[in-house]
Amino acid sequence: MEADANAKSYDEVSGPQIEAGSQFIRELNLSLGDKVLDMGCGTGHLTKYIADIVGPDGQAVGIDPDAERIKIAEEKSKEVGNLQFCVGSSVIGFPHDTEPYYDVHISTNAYHWVPDDEKRITYRKHIDIPGDNGNVEKIGIYTLTQEGYRDMFQEVGLFNNVVVDAPIYPYRYESFEEFKRWFKATTRQDVETTKSEDLLKKFVTTEDDGQVTFKVPCIRISACKN
Ligand SMILES: C[S@@+](CC[C@H](N)C(=O)[O-])C[C@H]1O[C@@H](n2cnc3c(N)ncnc32)[C@H](O)[C@@H]1O
Repeated sequence: MEADANAKSYDEVSGPQIEAGSQFIRELNLSLGDKVLDMGCGTGHLTKYIADIVGPDGQAVGIDPDAERIKIAEEKSKEVGNLQFCVGSSVIGFPHDTEPYYDVHISTNAYHWVPDDEKRITYRKHIDIPGDNGNVEKIGIYTLTQEGYRDMFQEVGLFNNVVVDAPIYPYRYESFEEFKRWFKATTRQDVETTKSEDLLKKFVTTEDDGQVTFKVPCIRISACKN
């Protein structure tokens, strides 16, 4: 029941991160007819956005390990033929995860939730590093730094057009209450916990009119397989 409420709450207050994610997706210049995997799709806002871009000859497949979020995504997308959702992950599996099928793999606001040992599997599956444990092992060292990701992609050597940057996306909320609700829904923690104190001081500002801005430091990676 708590998972259910959390998924619903998440669906209602995730607007600012959807905005950042859709900006990233626009920059990828997807084509009509592309088949796109959206890993960690949550309640599917951005998967639907992708389905609209790739059109009826394309396909958007949203995967998330959280069954309640997938349930909401499915309920909202019943009428859309080129959009599917499935409970899964790189570890649990997902449709077509053992064959070359998708033109593009996308993951927004999700990779930081993948545990480090799963990150390796994620890279193997999504980036298809052919059995080279040397390269894969190094991924653990390079957790969430811009230079680290750039070096790793270059070392792997399977890609061209690797772009890694570290934009700061301002997520805006009408009030501190709304920000708190989003924070709880996405992290499953209360913002008042001591762990978050530093985050509040560093990244969160409240304007005179009560609006809250959360300046989110992101790592944005795009790469094409050779
Ligand atoms: C903040 S939401 C992002 C949703 C959506 N992609 C967006 O940008 O709005 C992060 C999602 O990652 C999912 N997630 C957590 N662990 C994951 C894993 N190991 N593999 C894939 N997704 C995972 C969560 O269930 C959650 O729905």
